[in-house]
Amino acid sequence: MRLGTPLSPSATRVMLLGAGELGKEVVIALQRLGVEVIAVDRYANAPGHQVAHRSHVIQMSDAQALRALVEAEQPHVIVPEIEAIATEELLAIEAAGLATVIPTARAANLTMNREGIRRLAAETLGLPTSPYVFASSLAEMTAAAEHIGLPVIVKPVMSSSGKGQSRVDTLTGLAAAWQDAAAGGRIDKGRVIVEGVIDFDYEITLLTVRAKNAAGSIDTHFCAPIGHVQVRGDYVESWQPQAMSDTALTRAQDIAAAVTGNLGGLGLFGVELFVKGDSVWFSEVSPRPHDTGMVTMATQRQNEFELHARAILGLPVDVSLREPGASAVIYGAVDASGIVFEGVAAALQTPGTDLRLFGKPVSFERRRMGVALATAATTDDARTLAKSVASTVKPVTP
Ligand SMILES: Nc1ncnc2c1ncn2[C@@H]1O[C@H](COP(=O)(O)OP(=O)(O)O)[C@@H](O)[C@H]1O
Ligand SMILES: [Mg+2]
Repeated sequence: MRLGTPLSPSATRVMLLGAGELGKEVVIALQRLGVEVIAVDRYANAPGHQVAHRSHVIQMSDAQALRALVEAEQPHVIVPEIEAIATEELLAIEAAGLATVIPTARAANLTMNREGIRRLAAETLGLPTSPYVFASSLAEMTAAAEHIGLPVIVKPVMSSSGKGQSRVDTLTGLAAAWQDAAAGGRIDKGRVIVEGVIDFDYEITLLTVRAKNAAGSIDTHFCAPIGHVQVRGDYVESWQPQAMSDTALTRAQDIAAAVTGNLGGLGLFGVELFVKGDSVWFSEVSPRPHDTGMVTMATQRQNEFELHARAILGLPVDVSLREPGASAVIYGAVDASGIVFEGVAAALQTPGTDLRLFGKPVSFERRRMGVALATAATTDDARTLAKSVASTVKPVTP
């Protein structure tokens, strides 16, 4: 793999589809390697737009608009950063040889819909998952809940960050869950997954990297497991490393290797797993950096964004942990544009703390606007520090 000079005929061009906080860090990692970066999102001045060579605003779920932009920009590599993309068109773009899709167009297509990835993991690969049934009506959903046994978790097949997801404890609660799923899904497909609840001790993200070795073949690398806390399906806190038994860790790595090996291609994946004692269940996978993995900006020699950038360019990676650490989300708290962050200096007084403010043009109460980072001798100490930084930063209306 040769790397060119940006803004010249030799440039190595990478297009990010999605330019949020995760995309922004991937752009920065690519910029450091002299890659020409084109950032795309559905609104202007997205975080990744602010650090790219060029930026575009399109509906990425619009196949024609996506195809036209790819033909105009001629990227060598396309990096999906979100799920709401016309992934069928990515399959066509890849098949036509227009660009390499990371990790593969098939992976982007399968993981954007819970049905694709769950059937692959449970039915094709035989991996342990929660019991599940797909349903296309309230009647089917009720039958599913009776079959699985309450409580159940209902999720639209196309959604992320817990949107449209609810836990149902009684049969009478199913109608409201059906409505929530229709309203909260990215696209109302009229289809949900009904899952049995796994009574896990803890859940982890296992960042898994497929990267080329010196011989040119692909090796699979595992970062140290990341523990996290989700509130209403949205991540609020993460830490690394999460302590695990050797058996559970081996099982987690085997599951991650099986899923990522099937999806193929180059890049970093966030494999979500539930753990109870030595038992491990596969939950879902993102074929891209993961929000809980923002902690690696404090803890690893190469953070998850640098690992993704290096892997997709065919470069070697180093997944080693440098020190224990934690992250805590900074929410918008106010509904306003052009907000101001107070208390930043006070928040960063303690050594070992850091933060990222994403620069999103518009804030709302539960929007993720930044992240606090901390390192310490133990993950418990790091969590305390990160939460203290996050609560000291105060978003206010300008
Ligand atoms: N079957 C389940 N059993 C227990 N907890 C679950 C289950 N499914 C989801 N959760 C909880 O909800 C969170 C979000 O669910 P997930 O399937 O990852 O949705 P999303 O795609 O929105 O991230 C999980 O991280 C976990 O905390
Ligand atoms: Mg998830």
